[in-house]
Amino acid sequence: MRNAEKAVSVTQRWKGLLCGIIGVTAVDLNVVPLVIRGLQRLEYRGYDSVGIAVTSSGTLLIRKGAGELEAVRRRLSLDELQGLTAIGHTRWATHGPPNDINAHPHTDCSGTVAVVHNGVIRNYSSLRQELVARGHRLKSETDTELVAHLIEEASAGKPFIEALASALGKIEGTYALGIVNAGEPDRIYFAKMRSPLLIGIGKGVRALASDIPALLDIGKTIVFLDDGEFGYITPNDMAIYRLLPGGGYVKLTPQEVAARTKVVELSPEAASKGGYPHFMIKEIYEQPEAVRETYDGNVEDPALDRAASLLASAEKVIVVAAGTSYHAGLVFSLIAARRARLLLYPLIASEVSYVSDAIGKDDVLLAVSQSGETYDTLEAMRLAKERGATVIGVTNVVGSALDRASDLKLYTRAGPEIGVAATKTFLSQVMLLELLALRTGVETGALDRPEALSIANALKSAPSLLSAALEASDPVATAMARAFNSKSLYVLGRGLGHAIAKEGALKIKEIAYVHAEAYPAGESKHGPIALVERDFPVMVVATSDSPEVAGNAIEMAARGAKVFVTRPADLRLELSSQKGNMSVIDLPPSGGLLELEPFILSPIYQLFAYRLSVLLGHNPDKPRNLAKTVTVE
Ligand code: G6P
Repeated sequence: MRNAEKAVSVTQRWKGLLCGIIGVTAVDLNVVPLVIRGLQRLEYRGYDSVGIAVTSSGTLLIRKGAGELEAVRRRLSLDELQGLTAIGHTRWATHGPPNDINAHPHTDCSGTVAVVHNGVIRNYSSLRQELVARGHRLKSETDTELVAHLIEEASAGKPFIEALASALGKIEGTYALGIVNAGEPDRIYFAKMRSPLLIGIGKGVRALASDIPALLDIGKTIVFLDDGEFGYITPNDMAIYRLLPGGGYVKLTPQEVAARTKVVELSPEAASKGGYPHFMIKEIYEQPEAVRETYDGNVEDPALDRAASLLASAEKVIVVAAGTSYHAGLVFSLIAARRARLLLYPLIASEVSYVSDAIGKDDVLLAVSQSGETYDTLEAMRLAKERGATVIGVTNVVGSALDRASDLKLYTRAGPEIGVAATKTFLSQVMLLELLALRTGVETGALDRPEALSIANALKSAPSLLSAALEASDPVATAMARAFNSKSLYVLGRGLGHAIAKEGALKIKEIAYVHAEAYPAGESKHGPIALVERDFPVMVVATSDSPEVAGNAIEMAARGAKVFVTRPADLRLELSSQKGNMSVIDLPPSGGLLELEPFILSPIYQLFAYRLSVLLGHNPDKPRNLAKTVTVE
């Protein structure tokens, strides 16, 4: 990480991705304008719906609806709301489509407790069933609403803080919660577990929010909460408690609170990029979080089993996508061949119409799209449906056109991606699709259940390996970018390495405008090698399914190419004849587990592309001629 980025690394712990929450309480000030301004600064975290709850003289007033902030603000006259205490939310849908009912805040049966939430409650299905069985009336499809009902249930005759602690004890997953209770109009309760949450301190006003930019109007003094902490703020005070393992809680000492309190000097603009100069680099560093959210949100989802059984019983499985999503589809096809013994047909979406006559009603089309709005992918789905095939949709956007048109829906949980070049959504897709490949292996009988489970468990280490890979890769990528002096390069790989190479080369083309061509390394001697002359750059992605790629690296080096071999450090490669023009870049070890290797090997290519783009004076967030979502043919 560069120095400028290090200087603000304080913000990096707060990079939870889905939704933004805010709560403000003041002694003698209408807080609604502060909440609205905070929501504007949190909109980069989601823009599916917006809502505000105000407590005033024992009642709770809520306005909420689907759509982006400015639209909802006008439609529901949010500026008319007034009060000394309010919470607000901007949503990136995870459970349930983005509509008015699913918009936050959510309330309990009595309508006196209102909750806003960022995160994912993993044991959502069982909690929901239990609450319904005990007579709770649930209005929305969200996981958040459960929290309001759990608190309601626990609060009979108990102080609110105890009811909150008891509700937290029942929830598994990630959360940053803001809660108001009509009976206590000058208080906002909160809780944090692996989703970001901070407290801002001003004069006669206190606030909590998912990220620093939303707090900068309150003051520069920020309290950084830790996981497992909960409590409340009032305009002039606060109390923070820590949940204890096995139940119970203790109050933090004043010294502990002081140690968490810092004065932050950041402009709102810099803060919304987490202190990074561009969204792309911020999103590259958000990848461990995005991958973890995607793992947690899917590993126990029954939809994954249903999808696996459809894939296993299909006549043919056709995987369609565009751009980066296509590369995630390639990774899926390789892993599915290995783990489920299924040979799939990965197709570029815009090419499907030329072969669609061969699609039949017993086939399954797996469509992968970050935005869920890519024209080519939607068109491929339409053709497949016309021919009677079943469509499984994988997207990052709940309620998108792809989501609505799919027979079965699976979701990555990367949060909004602003940089045009996809990064965190790619590795989130890879995570979800790998989980799907493992389940499919169980369905086809290629894997037994314990084996699939043990690989899925090993995938839990992907986020930490990804963090280690980012740390190891950035200085190398930066040095390589500085030394780079060529109009084009090859990125070679075999098997999984080829899929990773294709994504790496796409990043380099997209944002550095350097011609990078990915090629299956074995095929490179059938043509591409003719271009190789002294110092021609060749990057090689070595993966554990194809150590023989070393031979291709040697062939290139022997012809004078400047070769960079990227590998997991524990992958043995026969590079004995390497010359001075070959460098081996050791990245974190994978223990030979192929599924972990995209997380280890992709960051160096993303970072190289990013660093090169910046050095060449381009704006990596907005590459020329490209759009984040392409809705035309
Ligand atoms: C555009 C974007 C790419 C993206 C592709 C597919 O070309 O610039 O970054 O990979 O569309 O988008 P999707 O939303 O379908 O994944």
